[in-house]
Amino acid sequence: MTTYTDKGEKHEQGRFLCFDHITFWVGNAKQAASYYCNKLGFEPLAYKGLETGSREVVSHAVKQGKIIYVFSSALNPGNKEMGDHMVKHGDGVKDIAFTVEDCDFLVQVKVLIFCNATACALLFYFLFFAQMEQQRNGKLDFIDHVVGNQPDDEMVPVVDWYQKTLLFHRFWSVDDKQLQTEFSALRSIVVANYEETVKMPINEPAMGKRKSQIQEYVDYYGGPGVQHIAMNTSDIITSVRNLKDRGMEFMTVPDTYYEQLKENLKHSKVKISEDLDVLQELKILIDYDDNGYLLQIFTKPVQDRPTVFLEVIQRHNHQGFGAGNFKSLFEAIEADQQARGNLTVLTPNGDSKDM
Ligand SMILES: [Fe+2]
Repeated sequence: MTTYTDKGEKHEQGRFLCFDHITFWVGNAKQAASYYCNKLGFEPLAYKGLETGSREVVSHAVKQGKIIYVFSSALNPGNKEMGDHMVKHGDGVKDIAFTVEDCDFLVQVKVLIFCNATACALLFYFLFFAQMEQQRNGKLDFIDHVVGNQPDDEMVPVVDWYQKTLLFHRFWSVDDKQLQTEFSALRSIVVANYEETVKMPINEPAMGKRKSQIQEYVDYYGGPGVQHIAMNTSDIITSVRNLKDRGMEFMTVPDTYYEQLKENLKHSKVKISEDLDVLQELKILIDYDDNGYLLQIFTKPVQDRPTVFLEVIQRHNHQGFGAGNFKSLFEAIEADQQARGNLTVLTPNGDSKDM
């Protein structure tokens, strides 16, 4: 794995500050928003629809900590743009909005695509709801990183786009020799803004014995898109307990993962303050180096297509993305891929056949 120290050119104007919100286009915005409230502890924030004079599109915004998700659906038959998007992608992330310092400046330098999606263009008619009955809080604080999947050979051009257009820099990368299981492989480059408050890993599938889970995503999403959104918490144990109580489903790893981990930690300088038995009980993953560690867990896909999923992450002086866990995680995903009939054998020309 590679970490980078060159942050590249600094924005004189129009600094990127943080993730602002993420918009999903879904089949039924009302029910999608309700899923995030019920299973993840979000609360209704804003609504626009027929009652507020929005005749074409309905949007429900939900919030937890600094995390805002907006779910939008078409109100009328024949909405071609939203309809075509739905047929091709199913439910998925339509855009990622950043909070920026000087939106006008960024528009002038032609970053229109992103400025359209930023907070400065948010034209909601806010209609606040009564607070939901106080349930067990998800303890999710802010968006830590957002991961995009690209088809094969399209990762580097996308990384270049972030570097040239948004002045992001390469923050971290891993190649397929480091990220592979017996069956599948991927490459990943993380880009970040100058202040490193916005981090976006970009993945692409690599050739393995069977279909990469990145390829499975690309096949079902109908192209590139957001693979997962990681939400930062300062208390992952309480967060995951509460989310599991609410019925959220997570990926799991075998107990051998923790037996191996406990053995490896004996030879490490890092001390994990959380109780390892509790982490094992909740199936929370741990990645570490000599200076710190991170705790993370991944949900199952949050829609029927095996596309977008979520991550909960807690950092202790560790700025990685869990490369040490990729193998265990991928093996867990492969078990689900197999159940879906998608862990197909690849032939050398990239075709696949069912097992
Ligand atoms: Fe992640």
